[in-house]
Amino acid sequence: MSSSRQADVAEPIHELIANRWSPRAIDPDRPVTRAQITSLLEAARWAPSCFGDEPWRFLVYDRASASEDWERAFACLVEGNQAWVKNAPLLLAAVAGARFRHNDKPNRWAQYDTGAASVSLCLQASALGLVAHQMGGFDGVRLAKTFDIPEEYTPMAMIAVGHPGDPQLLPEALREKESAQRQRQPLEVIAFAGRWSAPYRA
Ligand SMILES: Cc1cc2nc3c(=O)[nH]c(=O)nc-3n(C[C@H](O)[C@H](O)[C@H](O)COP(=O)(O)O)c2cc1C
Repeated sequence: MSSSRQADVAEPIHELIANRWSPRAIDPDRPVTRAQITSLLEAARWAPSCFGDEPWRFLVYDRASASEDWERAFACLVEGNQAWVKNAPLLLAAVAGARFRHNDKPNRWAQYDTGAASVSLCLQASALGLVAHQMGGFDGVRLAKTFDIPEEYTPMAMIAVGHPGDPQLLPEALREKESAQRQRQPLEVIAFAGRWSAPYRA
């Protein structure tokens, strides 16, 4: 099953980046292997971080080997996400630490770094032919309570991972989103030639 929805770009970018997107159609019958899970975590592990602190932590919920935990993690998602995540064989939770390891001072880059690690993970998923879809729609308090996440770690995102599935099996509203043209704001909105008043022109 193809999950290609290449980005429409002003200048060429690496195909790994152009090909990554956030599908909702996931094959319910194909588990993610242990080696693939480890590969995803390794990709996250090698992300850059402020002071090399590596403030990210990932909790792994593999339906094949730990179905009860998968169910508990799934129950933390909002209904709108549950509607399609029900087919995902693997759920991950990305959490960010609050303090630097080297001096115990607040680490205001921890959430930034955890996002960077999560994108590395998603790109690796894409490189492996898997789909990975990050979600903010979940109850972080419930997740932390259910899985003993320490208070100084903030749940940032859950990530649904699996093999590409059949979009026809999605609820209608989601089916349309699955094939709609991917949109981005133009470069001149998101980039400046130094000064805020000077939009970057390609
Ligand atoms: C932090 C974060 C939270 C997100 N939350 C959700 C979510 O709760 N449900 C969902 O379906 N998609 C969620 N997404 C996916 C975005 O909607 C998606 O990345 C965006 O629309 C761009 O599409 P693309 O990833 O296919 O390029 C989230 C993405 C990120 C990075």
